[in-house]
Amino acid sequence: MVKKVKSCVFISGNGTNLYSIIKSSRDYSFPIKIELIISNNNNNQKIFEKKCLIELKKREIGFLCLAGFMKILSNNFIKTFGYKIINIHPSLLPKFKGLNTHKRVLIKKEKYTGCTVHYVSSKLDSGNIIMQKKILIKKNETLKSLKKKVLVHEHKLYPEAIRCVFK
Ligand code: GRF
Repeated sequence: MVKKVKSCVFISGNGTNLYSIIKSSRDYSFPIKIELIISNNNNNQKIFEKKCLIELKKREIGFLCLAGFMKILSNNFIKTFGYKIINIHPSLLPKFKGLNTHKRVLIKKEKYTGCTVHYVSSKLDSGNIIMQKKILIKKNETLKSLKKKVLVHEHKLYPEAIRCVFK
């Protein structure tokens, strides 16, 4: 039996990536166990981060996954947590960092898009890449179809990348 690392997932949206991580974590060989889920409904960043750090410490959390988390964590938070923090972004990073990714990809008439799991650094969507999936964009692709298609790949990629981190 593997000793699973106590982990926390940060979300802001629908939580479908969270769901896929939880599903994978039920496997005995999966390296992490989700002990805590945090969503950001607190407007004050400083207070939010302070409260988070207290909870993370209390529950001995050693790993953090951001899954559609819409706030940028401060340098101080990243440093104070001190352990690994990873994030998923729906593009082929370093291309298309930031918001409205799919829309910008379509406007630019890209042939491929993708999704990327990467370490979190103090710069937005810029930490070292752990795993990446390249996805073909169809000629008649819409914003809705692209978002849906990429998300399906995200749900596979995120658990794979978590396994990769602990190999
Ligand atoms: C995903 O596309 C993720 O890459 C992006 O926000 C979306 C979140 O989806 N950062 P969900 O909340 O996991 O369903």
